[in-house]
Amino acid sequence: MSPSLIAPVVEEENKKYQRGVKHLCDKGLTKVPTKYIWPEQDRPIFTKPDKLIKPKQNLKLPIIDFAELLGPNRPQVLRTITEACETYGFFQVVNHGMEGDVSRNMIEVCKRFFELPYEERSKYMTSDMSAPVRYGTSFNQSKDNVFCWRDFLKLFAHPLPDYLPYWPSSPSDFRSLAATYAKETKELFEMMVKAILESLEIDGNEDEAAKELEEGSQLVVVNCYPPCPEPELTLGMPPHSDYGFLTLLLQDDVEGLQILYRDEWVTVDPIPGSFVVNVGDHLEIFSNGRYKSVLHRVLVNSIKPRISVASLHSFPLTSVVKPSPHLIDERNPPQYMETDFATFLQYVSSREPKWKNFLESRKIHRIR
Ligand code: OGA
Ligand code: NI
Repeated sequence: MSPSLIAPVVEEENKKYQRGVKHLCDKGLTKVPTKYIWPEQDRPIFTKPDKLIKPKQNLKLPIIDFAELLGPNRPQVLRTITEACETYGFFQVVNHGMEGDVSRNMIEVCKRFFELPYEERSKYMTSDMSAPVRYGTSFNQSKDNVFCWRDFLKLFAHPLPDYLPYWPSSPSDFRSLAATYAKETKELFEMMVKAILESLEIDGNEDEAAKELEEGSQLVVVNCYPPCPEPELTLGMPPHSDYGFLTLLLQDDVEGLQILYRDEWVTVDPIPGSFVVNVGDHLEIFSNGRYKSVLHRVLVNSIKPRISVASLHSFPLTSVVKPSPHLIDERNPPQYMETDFATFLQYVSSREPKWKNFLESRKIHRIR
């Protein structure tokens, strides 16, 4: 069948699963429905007739001590950031100054949101990618051929006063706790940007992009991964890179995040109270490919529910993203085309976002 004939069939079938995995699990489930079963080569553990390839040991990401970054050891910490962004596209931040209560309260109130009756949660379900609040399931629930074991709540968060009135009013303390979290994460992002620009030897005080980032966009994505009866058949999130400049990810104490490192999927060891920070597509473009947005995915498990909160930060929605003029010269020509959010949003809503195909579409291929 041609894609144009398949699409309506998929869309019709997807309607059956729109209520998400939390809803499925609440009904009691001993098997994963076919819709969630990934092709064998994409599953977390490959079981071949004669061998079982065990998952690799967990990965200890480079750790950035934020207090050190602000002290006399800054140059050394900046070098660690550079290395981490070039090698892994990821690092973990500890001692970041956000009170433990702020992050714990955020995880806890999000847990309570996902425990609300489906009717309450579904008030925020929409296919409009630019809605201030969007509740949903999988990745792109109208287009995905195979579904992910994940429900989500996405909140636009900057400028906060524009969006806050649309955020869920239940649980009653959701808005205040999530707003505190969003504001403090934004502050942390701004300090991270200063460090990242400095590590690229760009003067943040003079750079136009640095100013734009201060007034940039922030999208808080809350991910809920309920326990799954057959976790080896599915994924919480498929391999993807994040589209923004930087993502600050808060996880609870349950592991699940994997990154692609030297062509192998490795699990990131959660450090309670820390942030996992990763390079997004926009930073890859901005750094003209020096820092890489690395593919990552999420595994689920059969025992513990998992909550994570990803805060995606980037330029304002109206900006054009391009390689920094400070990093471009005759010997270093631009490697990426200019791109904007509108193009991106159109791209992700029109197909299954998989791998890094959006970024690939922005690359300039030169014949040398
Ligand atoms: C994301 C993401 C990882 C996780 O939200 O983009 O990659 O551990 N989340 O939930
Ligand atoms: Ni991600």
